[in-house]
Amino acid sequence: MSKATFDPTRYNNSNNTSFAEVLDKHLSRRHFVKSGLGLGALTAFGGFGLAGCNSDDKTTPTPTDPVPPTPVPPARSSVSLGFNSIPGSLTDAVTIPEGYKAQILAPWGTPLNDKAAPWKADGSNTAEDQANSVGQNHDGMHFFPLNDAADDGLLCINHEYIEQDALHPMGPTLDADTGLRNVIDEVRKEINAHGITVVRIRLVEGNWTVVTNDSHNRRITGASTLDIAGPVAYSEHLVTPFSPDGSQARGTLNNCGNGYTPWGTYLTCEENWPEYFVNKGELTESQKRIGIGTSKTRYGWADLAGNEEERVDEFARFDVTATGAGALYDYRNEANGHGYIVEIDPYSPNARGVKRTALGRFRHEGCTFGKLEEGKSLVFYSGHDSRFEYLYKFVSKASWSEADAKPANRLATGAKYMDDGVLYVARFNEDGSGTWLALEPGSSTQDGKTLADYFATQADILLNTPGAADLLGATPMDRPEWCAVDPFTGSAYLTLTNNSKRTETNPANPRLKNNFGHIIRWDEGASDTEFNWDIFVFGAPTDNVDYNLSNLSEFNQFASPDGLSFDKRGILWIQTDNGASEVTSYTNDQMLAVVPSTLTDGDGKQQTIGEANQTELRRFFVGPNGCEVTGFAISPDYRSVFANIQHPDNWPVSNDATEATPAGERIRPRAATVVIRKLDGTEVGV
Ligand code: FEO
Ligand code: CA
Ligand code: CA
Ligand code: CA
Repeated sequence: MSKATFDPTRYNNSNNTSFAEVLDKHLSRRHFVKSGLGLGALTAFGGFGLAGCNSDDKTTPTPTDPVPPTPVPPARSSVSLGFNSIPGSLTDAVTIPEGYKAQILAPWGTPLNDKAAPWKADGSNTAEDQANSVGQNHDGMHFFPLNDAADDGLLCINHEYIEQDALHPMGPTLDADTGLRNVIDEVRKEINAHGITVVRIRLVEGNWTVVTNDSHNRRITGASTLDIAGPVAYSEHLVTPFSPDGSQARGTLNNCGNGYTPWGTYLTCEENWPEYFVNKGELTESQKRIGIGTSKTRYGWADLAGNEEERVDEFARFDVTATGAGALYDYRNEANGHGYIVEIDPYSPNARGVKRTALGRFRHEGCTFGKLEEGKSLVFYSGHDSRFEYLYKFVSKASWSEADAKPANRLATGAKYMDDGVLYVARFNEDGSGTWLALEPGSSTQDGKTLADYFATQADILLNTPGAADLLGATPMDRPEWCAVDPFTGSAYLTLTNNSKRTETNPANPRLKNNFGHIIRWDEGASDTEFNWDIFVFGAPTDNVDYNLSNLSEFNQFASPDGLSFDKRGILWIQTDNGASEVTSYTNDQMLAVVPSTLTDGDGKQQTIGEANQTELRRFFVGPNGCEVTGFAISPDYRSVFANIQHPDNWPVSNDATEATPAGERIRPRAATVVIRKLDGTEVGV
């Protein structure tokens, strides 16, 4: 369930509620179903670029054809779920369907190499240990096979934030007089527990194990040096004493959702980073809009600024107050190096990560590429997770070439597709259509001007991405979290986790005081600026008739959808980060599964979840007390599913994730990856 990592302040005060209306409690279900063209036709256009060719309209080669036409992939998945939905659970253990097992892998503090001492249950590991061990509070992740193997690969894991009480023997030490942080090794340990882990893992006799000392193993932490690329790089906004030319930033923080690229790199997303910084002076417009701290940093890291043991302003840099003669003399620009999508090449352990600024600067939840089409632009989607924030799409200038799927230089390929392109923000229209609004200087603002009247350069627009999006009239959403794209239909799905502060609705966020969240879906239209959308499922407890618009039952009721991933078989995995008591009283956070492309009506149109098909949405996994279930990966043979348990209360007690901590026993909790496999070793989920 939700922990304090989320900043509840509303930073979007733009009142972009052009379709605001009071919720009619008897909303017609038809309101949420796409109008116009059926989805099948839309996705055949958008998904495969074969105009006029949908799944019922296959091109037959004739004897005179010089080249056979490209085979048309099936428009729907052929798999069906092969497990029964499990009941909710409220224990210090994970629960899974019958016939499965669940093991712990790479919990917080697992040494990656011999520089780290083994994890100690009293919390006494050092900052140096932490720099060489798995970070805390696992979140997004991805499995990268080595040599195309299904039993040997690299797991990249995000570490969103820290639990100070678990990290240190007695929680954080504070000076008795000042209340400030006063132990350097503790603060360094906290910074090192952030970021990402790359770790080699191998399947040995049905159990995944960490390969200690493998050359790929590494941490990129809140202290690591990263490169910056795209329009904001080398701009005045990034000049710091550490990087006078504005080409580098230190650290990646609050790495929440993730993505990966078609060329084999990992994408980690910087989410609730603003409150790690403090500006005690006057906030800039972009600092105000994003919510930079004004009294203290989140964990007090700047408290140790000026300490005689401080190295290269490692603590001072979190205080972004303008105190010096210019950007070379203070850290006023330090936070400008945060808020990006960061690309990491897991196969090249010496390659620095790169912050890709063209994809915008905000509280990025995830980053997901759209359906690949040879010769067409590549598309990435990313949600801004705060109340009333927006959904974004980046469209590459370069056209996708299949030859780039296995490039010689992965980060150069990343530069090709991610440093130059157009960033858009979404407006959802009442009739089920949508418009992508370009964040470019020439774009018209709602007041009849252009963005160029407000921002001097594209770098200025990107630096304050949400501020620019306000001016264009984007639709304020109920906290956009992860996005996932159906490999069969190309339809994109986005979790909107909740928004208890919604007092006016809009078509895409139609429930007032939305405590339970929903999942919205769209298909790209004929041009880069058009899309069509509907609402796939509404989270709700079963017994709330006003809110349970998808007819959920005891076996699939959920709230606050967050993590979201498709596997290549077309199964959509939905994870929750719920704090709504109507559902937390029934079950801990969970992971559900559904195969959306198979839910069609007689005309082949994709359906939303409702009474007729709700048994197709099934609960697969429930986490231990206190946790959030987040992050999904799967082995290429589909025999191992990886899911992360973040901030558990009192777990894990052994390598068996299903073993409950004995009643009355308190253990130091450890976030961990859980690997779920079938007892017979065959494919998971089917
Ligand atoms: Fe870190 Fe929006 O979840
Ligand atoms: Ca979280
Ligand atoms: Ca999340
Ligand atoms: Ca969340």
